Amino acid sequence: MAADRAEQHAESAGLYAGLYDLARDVAAEAGQLVQRMRREGVEVAGTKSSDVDVVTRADQASEELIRRRLLAERPDDGLLGEEGDEVAGTSGVRWVVDPIDGTVNYLYGLPAYAVSVAAEHDGEVVAGVVLNPATGEEYGAVRGAGAWLRTPAGRTPLRVREPVETARMLVATGFNYELELRRDQGRAVARLLTQVRDVRRMGACSLDLCAVASGRVDAYLEEGVHAWDHAAGGLVAAEAGATVRQGTGAHGRLLLTCAAPAVIEELVRLAADCGF
Ligand code: IPD
Repeated sequence: MAADRAEQHAESAGLYAGLYDLARDVAAEAGQLVQRMRREGVEVAGTKSSDVDVVTRADQASEELIRRRLLAERPDDGLLGEEGDEVAGTSGVRWVVDPIDGTVNYLYGLPAYAVSVAAEHDGEVVAGVVLNPATGEEYGAVRGAGAWLRTPAGRTPLRVREPVETARMLVATGFNYELELRRDQGRAVARLLTQVRDVRRMGACSLDLCAVASGRVDAYLEEGVHAWDHAAGGLVAAEAGATVRQGTGAHGRLLLTCAAPAVIEELVRLAADCGF
């Protein structure tokens, strides 16, 4: 029995490590494409949920590349990407991809955008890569094996900050592109501001979650994010010791909260009190 379990564990670990390696390779290629297209001049291809929710040619080209590469390598997998239709698979593995998270930062040349590639196995995220091609920072995680940051200087394990009470938290958040939701988020943030150390709006959910993982902020919360925004970053945060909580926000949409386990309940309560 124990031998069976050990064998199964080793098999899963091998699968997850392989998915992670593939995610890294593909994210690196997409990152190079995205940077080249930025140097050549960003072209807006259209808008989505509102006039300010833009999609660039680079978002589309990056997603095409990622889809093509992943499905060429693993044709039986499913794939959910921000810029295309979902592909159903048969292997039990589904890729969840944001070809550029932080598109508005990309548009303006603010160096806080990311290629985010996650692999789920039987509905659970097991490997993830969040690559910021503008800075070269590459965050990675494999379920059960930890989270790390790779830079040209090497690989550093990630650990969430020591928990602090909400009044001393630096909290990252974001605003949805849909105007109704964003208006209420603005009101909720105004309340939050008087209850915490300070608030940061950096512009990419995946990197916000990695910022919790690396201790650059204490917490993150946002309503209305999608699986492609948080799949890879959520695993990085969880493997760095954070709790990632999926709840329901004031608008009935996914409310993601992320902080050290000891303070997550307090954060969830505070978010509700503030009107998130
Ligand atoms: C957006 C970013 C932003 C968050 C939005 C997301 P996109 O993703 O993650 O930080 O506030 O809710 O939609 O559109 O740049 O991929």
